[in-house]
Amino acid sequence: MTIQIAVIGTGYVGLVSGTCFAELGHSVICIDNNPEKIAQLKLAQIPIYEPELAEMVNKNIQAGRLNFDTQLQKTVEKSQVLFIAVGTPTDPGTGQADLSYLKIAAREIAQFINDYKVIVVKSTVPVGTCHLVKTIIQQENPNAQFDIVSNPEFLREGLAVYDFMNPDRIIVGTETESAKAMMNQIYQVFDKRGIPILFTDLESSELIKYAANCFLATKIAFINEIANLCEKTNANIVEVSEGLGLDKRIGAVYLKPSPGFGGSCFPKDTLALAHAAREILSPLSIVESVILSNERHKAYMIEKILAACYGAVRGKTLTVLGVAFKANTDDVRESSALIIIEALQKQGANIIVYDPAAMENAAKVLSNVVFAKDVYQAMRGSDAVVIATEWPEFCDLNFDCMGDNATVVDLRNLYDPKAMYAQGIRYFSIGRKPVITSKKPLCVD
Ligand code: UGA
Repeated sequence: MTIQIAVIGTGYVGLVSGTCFAELGHSVICIDNNPEKIAQLKLAQIPIYEPELAEMVNKNIQAGRLNFDTQLQKTVEKSQVLFIAVGTPTDPGTGQADLSYLKIAAREIAQFINDYKVIVVKSTVPVGTCHLVKTIIQQENPNAQFDIVSNPEFLREGLAVYDFMNPDRIIVGTETESAKAMMNQIYQVFDKRGIPILFTDLESSELIKYAANCFLATKIAFINEIANLCEKTNANIVEVSEGLGLDKRIGAVYLKPSPGFGGSCFPKDTLALAHAAREILSPLSIVESVILSNERHKAYMIEKILAACYGAVRGKTLTVLGVAFKANTDDVRESSALIIIEALQKQGANIIVYDPAAMENAAKVLSNVVFAKDVYQAMRGSDAVVIATEWPEFCDLNFDCMGDNATVVDLRNLYDPKAMYAQGIRYFSIGRKPVITSKKPLCVD
């Protein structure tokens, strides 16, 4: 059965979710108060880098299932279900989730509620927020007939369309049978495919989202610490990680060492949950440690690069490959690469950057950096290359253009140390023995 859906907010989550709801066969209007953005979206021009999304937007516009609008009133009036998908960024002062956009959306929707609506909070929000939204709507419009639902998203940037269409589970927090029935109809296709739809109370659903992100962040912080231990003990993190992951109770994913987790979710959500828990005197010491561990790990990455460059980078030219916080995205928010670049600049290095998708965003936050046209222009003549993002095009590079005695610091373990040794490349990675070799005698500063 086709449901009339409105999605408030055409940011990352709203745009992907709205488009995928249309793909599931529902009739969707995505609302944003930015008219230029809406005009572009109507032409299937999408403002974010997300594989498969533009094609899916276009297909569903053509099929008449997906529309974009700035008019909230008429959209609210004709929709059965309203998804709120506005941002909840970290408040820089407190580390708490900033709920101001969500509150504005709730107030605006409230005044136009003309008959029974299901109002779904899709944004990542602290426990208790759905109740807050409910109160705001009741205060704004005491006659409004509605139910409130929590339905967190589990979409990875770069894989968001795939994740939406192939979920491990769907989490729905509800208070009433009518809301439950409506959500069941929306996700009927997945139910038929045997994908679990877990109905919970509002608070549990809100907490599942934070707990999931904090748990995944914990796995990464853990494996990064184990990787650092490998370096001190001559163990090999690739083997250790594989051995750990083969235990079904642990699982193989999110055990890849990296320069530290980044992005718009793990850093924000670990901080927000730790803060919220502290506030109610139920501190989460593990999550607090994960935040600290990730910060320390980033600092250790900088030490690692300095050591690879014989202890100093002043006056040297370093190439950083990848500024996106991970591959397949143009997002640089909380990217470890940015912290590394700024630290190396402070130590006197000249920085050349290449990233297949994220240079425009990086240019907004970095200064005094040379952005190269391609990966080989970026590496030519450079004193050392730092691989910070695991883009596929960085996996099979020819380092000859760096000349003899090339130094590569691979913070994503993309290369085989033995193959690097055979090529005479000084190669440093994470959690594995460094390869100290040279085609010509080492020239130590
Ligand atoms: C994350 C979650 O994976 C999604 O389920 C969730 O919906 C989303 O946050 C959100 O809350 O909106 P995302 O931030 O897009 O998705 O990125 P991930 O692919 O999970 O990666 C996060 C960070 O962890 C990246 O910096 C990545 O490089 C790092 N990572 C990931 C590792 O260092 N090692 C790994 O093994 C996996």
